[in-house]
Amino acid sequence: MLESVAPESRVPLDEHLQGSVFYQENKTGQPVKGHFYIESYGCQMNFNDSEIVASVLAETGYQPTRDVDIADLILINTCSIREKAEDTVRKRLQTFQRQKATQPGLLVGVLGCMAERLKSKFLEEEKLVDLVVGPDAYRDLPRLIERADDGEKGLNVFLSREETYADINPLRLDQNGVTSFISIMRGCDNMCSFCVVPFTRGRERSRDPYSILAEATDLFQKGYREATLLGQNVDSYSWSHPDTGEQVNFAQLLAMVAEIHPDLRVRFSTSHPKDITNEVLETIARYENICKYIHLPVQSGSSRILDLMNRTYDAPWYRERIEAIRRIIPDCAVSSDIIAGFCTETEEDHQDTLEMMAFARYSMSYMFAYSERPGTLAARKYPDDIPEEVKKRRLGEIIQLQNQISLAHNQADIGKTFSVLIEGDSKRNDQEHKGRNTQNKMIVFPKTGSHGPGDYVRVKVTDATSATLRGEVVHDVEQ
Ligand code: SAH
Ligand code: SF4
Ligand code: F3S
Repeated sequence: MLESVAPESRVPLDEHLQGSVFYQENKTGQPVKGHFYIESYGCQMNFNDSEIVASVLAETGYQPTRDVDIADLILINTCSIREKAEDTVRKRLQTFQRQKATQPGLLVGVLGCMAERLKSKFLEEEKLVDLVVGPDAYRDLPRLIERADDGEKGLNVFLSREETYADINPLRLDQNGVTSFISIMRGCDNMCSFCVVPFTRGRERSRDPYSILAEATDLFQKGYREATLLGQNVDSYSWSHPDTGEQVNFAQLLAMVAEIHPDLRVRFSTSHPKDITNEVLETIARYENICKYIHLPVQSGSSRILDLMNRTYDAPWYRERIEAIRRIIPDCAVSSDIIAGFCTETEEDHQDTLEMMAFARYSMSYMFAYSERPGTLAARKYPDDIPEEVKKRRLGEIIQLQNQISLAHNQADIGKTFSVLIEGDSKRNDQEHKGRNTQNKMIVFPKTGSHGPGDYVRVKVTDATSATLRGEVVHDVEQ
């Protein structure tokens, strides 16, 4: 039985700063070498990487546990995106290190973006850490663990130009058995000036589309009904066959996955405003099972700030992309990421952001105060000159406006009927199901008795808050 305490699914790349742990029985038949416990932070790609790590370890005979107290190996898969994310990890490490003091032989390993950012400095700063392993070095884990068992510190932060883990079948940690994630690429070649990801994840590379198709088909055959294709910038997915020269771009990949089965929903995250093409939009429109939802982070509504951020588009360009979405996919929901208080941001720039939000009418947004990251272009070029209280106030205004827009967006759905994929019981009431519509809106509704997770039902919306829709199952004649 696969059990897990995994994150809520279908989130853009940077939602989870709480940890997630999981448990799965050892099915490999290997002699059990010990138990490992893994906790993940950061974006969905990081959570997906933990599934790859779990697969690598299970292959070599390590058995997963969700009980940290019986673990022989504790792994923490880390995020560096904002200072707060790193602070959370350091606090967790202190707890693990206390455990280490009372449990001889216990190994503690740091994986992911913080491992990559700090490299050997991590071993100097956090003396009790035994392993530091970057995102492209997970195949090396068994060797590094063996060395650490012999008392040597294990460090591998080599960033690869090729590694996509294409041949590793991730151990699924999703708890619902309905929705799942597939990494289609790794790294990022954009150099947004605020962002640490190009430094922690390395160069962009696209995974073989046929391995993606095989993974999605396998998931569908196992009963999954939704696959989210993950990448830092999915629109720049680009693969060519080394021998035949066959080329596949993101629009083509979307179509290939959508063709697996009409009952397999396809989602993707994250899109980049400079790269999202009409071909992609037309593909989304053409396939019923490609969800009508695009996460298209704007970051700022001011062209001057976008230029300093090195986003390589300006406000008119972004507006035109929103208009293209409305024209080509009229029922599409759009969400965003927004940063408040980037270097030199004036009140006028901030107003531009609020105006852009009103124009784009985001169904939801992830909103952050700018956090300077060491080594980034912005850290080197621009002083972090917006006082904390100004950042906070602007962020508060952004959040307040988004709440209003989300509420209006959701209220406009009252009376409409949607096809909803049931994911499981609602959090608060086991007499209710929860599921999402194509626009990625969560809808809660009373169980009918004849439907369960993985089924599609028609749900008429009866009520709405800024976060959730409520509804009831209807039969097609009532629509
Ligand atoms: N590849 C995605 C973003 C991944 S990071 C994209 O380009 O949209 C997720 C979000 O974190 C970013 O969109 C941005 O809004 C936010 N973020 C990244 N670096 C940040 C920083 N230094 N301070 C505050 N927010 C940041
Ligand atoms: Fe960071 Fe920009 Fe790459 Fe997104 S596109 S991961 S924000 S550098
Ligand atoms: Fe993701 Fe955080 Fe790394 S957002 S790519 S885990 S810095």
